[in-house]
Amino acid sequence: MSAPATPATRPANPRFSSGPCAKPPVFALESLSDAPLGRSHRAAVGKSKLKQAIDETAQLLGVPDGYKVGIVPASDTGAYEMAMWSLLGARPSETLAWESFGKGWVTDAVKQLKLAENEVREAEYGEIVDLAAVDWNKDICFTWNGTTSGVRVPNGDVIPADREGLTICDATSAAFAQDLPWDKLDVTTFSWQKVMGGEAAHGVIVLSPRAVERLESYTPAWPLPKIFRLTKGGKLIDGIFKGETINTPSMLCVEDWLLALAWGRSVGGLKGLIDRADQNAQVVWDFVAANDWIDNLAVDKATWSNTSVCLKFTDPAVAGDADFAKAVQKKLEAEGVAYDVGSYRDAPAGLRIWCGGTVEKADLEALMPWIDWAYHAVLSEREAA
Ligand SMILES: Cc1ncc(COP(=O)(O)O)c(C=O)c1O
Repeated sequence: MSAPATPATRPANPRFSSGPCAKPPVFALESLSDAPLGRSHRAAVGKSKLKQAIDETAQLLGVPDGYKVGIVPASDTGAYEMAMWSLLGARPSETLAWESFGKGWVTDAVKQLKLAENEVREAEYGEIVDLAAVDWNKDICFTWNGTTSGVRVPNGDVIPADREGLTICDATSAAFAQDLPWDKLDVTTFSWQKVMGGEAAHGVIVLSPRAVERLESYTPAWPLPKIFRLTKGGKLIDGIFKGETINTPSMLCVEDWLLALAWGRSVGGLKGLIDRADQNAQVVWDFVAANDWIDNLAVDKATWSNTSVCLKFTDPAVAGDADFAKAVQKKLEAEGVAYDVGSYRDAPAGLRIWCGGTVEKADLEALMPWIDWAYHAVLSEREAA
């Protein structure tokens, strides 16, 4: 096999990382000049920016009245672990996992919190656990979109409206790209660095009235560090949900988030963002359908992620070959056509291409021939070796 010719067109933006994700197409550092730098986040100007960030987040996501939205430390991890540590242990629980991050939450429940009555349900990469078998009267920890396997929860229909347990959902690679059924979610967390292309280190936690009720009626048996504490004297610390953050946020990141939200509104709000991700992912799915050597890692089409699209090479000669997949990824990177598209370190060998709304469809269309090129170029190098 001779080395194939390089495609004619390159993606204008080669950033297809699954986090931090591509900035919104309108992003420019100069657009952040209104950030109140060097001022206290507790001054009126800082507090009003934080409140604006909370209000506009709730509005863009369609969070129902009565739910609380807060900005908390340590990105999605901080938001999710704060929920686990604050809420679990009040009743039996289940932790569900079908990829690396969900497995991390299982470790927290089993090895760190050492929950006495916790059932673990796990599925292999590409699969999802049987959601119909879950006992939703327990507290349920799960990830809406498994970023490292490209497997998502199809919808919330399986979650009963009259459940007794709380649903604690890590939605960091789903929020702003997939419909989240708020009435079925008691705690939802995400980071700015994902779908909207914001900055890392700041997390968002969304609480349903039932989650607030639990927080105000239950005190865990274990100590809580200050950055996890959502209550004081048995009452929700309401300030957290009005912009009085637990500790100091970056006002530059807040300004960047406001810019991302404004861009989200400009492309049609939540529906526009979901459509963009769907259309982006379709470009990759069409490419996969047209080539018999590559496939989605996610098996069931209903679970195919429209953000973190994970792909595996299926030719038996290279399937599961991590060195081969790495060589393809390196070639794409060396050509400057795709950065950070290797599969996650714990996931099966392959490629992972972010398709969230900040990525332009034209860039994905330009990338597909390059994947074909890189795949065949590495194959021919192997043959020649
Ligand atoms: C599903 C999921 N959960 C948690 C995280 C951790 O997010 P962060 O680094 O923003 O805390 C990630 C990051 O990729 C993720 O994809």
